[in-house]
Amino acid sequence: MSTIRDPSLAPSGRKKIRWAYAYMPALREIGKEFAQTRPLEGLRVAMSIHLEAKTANMALMLKKSGAEVFITGCNPLSTQDDVCAALAETGMAVHAAHGCGPEEYEAHLSSVLACNPHLVLDDGGDLTELLHGKCTQNGGNLRGITEETTTGVLRLRNRAARKELRFPAMAVNDAEMKHLFDNRYGTGQSTWDAILHTTNLQICGKCVVVAGYGWCGRGVAMRAKGLGADVIVTEINPVKAIEAVCDGMRVMTMDQAAPLGDFFITVTGCKDVIVARHFERMKDGAVLCNTGHFDVEVNIKELAALSAERFEQRKNIAGYRMADGRVLNLLAEGRLVNLAAGNGHPVEIMDMSFAVQALALRHMAVNGSGMEPGVYQVPEEIDAAVSGYKLRAIGVDIDTLTPEQKAYYYNHP
Ligand code: NAI
Repeated sequence: MSTIRDPSLAPSGRKKIRWAYAYMPALREIGKEFAQTRPLEGLRVAMSIHLEAKTANMALMLKKSGAEVFITGCNPLSTQDDVCAALAETGMAVHAAHGCGPEEYEAHLSSVLACNPHLVLDDGGDLTELLHGKCTQNGGNLRGITEETTTGVLRLRNRAARKELRFPAMAVNDAEMKHLFDNRYGTGQSTWDAILHTTNLQICGKCVVVAGYGWCGRGVAMRAKGLGADVIVTEINPVKAIEAVCDGMRVMTMDQAAPLGDFFITVTGCKDVIVARHFERMKDGAVLCNTGHFDVEVNIKELAALSAERFEQRKNIAGYRMADGRVLNLLAEGRLVNLAAGNGHPVEIMDMSFAVQALALRHMAVNGSGMEPGVYQVPEEIDAAVSGYKLRAIGVDIDTLTPEQKAYYYNHP
């Protein structure tokens, strides 16, 4: 039924899930409503997403909403085996193992798709890719896909532009209540949390190079500044570059930044952001990591080819000794560092992202069959509902317009 590493780890997983649940008020409120209305009754949901405690709470909530849930991870290093064990003991079908190789990873994705899902929750687009290739036969019942992250949405849009997208898909990432908080504040905090506890190094007075000044990059750079670093941003988009300058960052090319950085953090969603010619110019002891979705931003093959020796410095840090004796340190094998070497985003932030996911899944369950293949924005009502849950949870009141103000504001000639 499940393919997991070790069922005996369940008690530890249960504790993590219980801890996160206490800080997920929006998901709890939606869960109460869904448990009564059962909007996913009789539906099979296939999920591929970073498989840790916050995600587990969402999966359990979907189960209580009537769904049969089939879950795997979207990155072998972010999968937590104890959380998998705790989910499996509830009877959920879990196919995931921390650190598994590419073949096992794909076998897990195929296993969850074998349920012939009505709904797919994807993070990064790997399930969607299989539904358009090796697992085409498993898409017959599919009402729709919800996609969690920027890279997955980009892949959906590219597929739609090629007229190859076979299903309606909702860009959950693009909802305001998702990317404004998850990508910016979530990645900002959790990336630094992972770097700090993995390296135990000082940040103030150091030079931090952040590649990409999108939603995530802004958060990472903002927190680096707050820690007292000298922050350099590299970009390809002139507007984002100017925004970074106005936010007080230095902006330059990676070629210029390579010899200056003590820490390098890539978060672009693009490949080959740091390559051989950059490694050749970096300082001895430089720390490199990635917090973008795929492990393609730091070219590890080129790093390995340049180095005389690769050795473990400490947990999640690989030292690469160059022929000239310099050592460059790569965190978490170049996979997204906040999940592969950390706990991922703060719980309260994922509460908002998963509240959006839950409402988006209900929307697809109800409307998906009548929607044409394509990439859809999350309806505004969902952002409004989730912001309402959040404001109530944090006890913040905001003003409301009087009828006179409304007339003036919306109908001002
Ligand atoms: P975004 O589209 O808002 O920003 C990406 C930025 O990178 C853009 O400004 C773009 O111009 C820039 N860029 C692209 N190629 C570049 C290159 N070669 N050199 C320098 N800059 C370049 O995307 P967002 O939301 O910031 O996401 C970035 C990545 O992080 C994606 O892969 C996304 O899936 C992932 N992500 C990771 C999270 C995590 O937990 N670590 C959370 C959310 C998203």
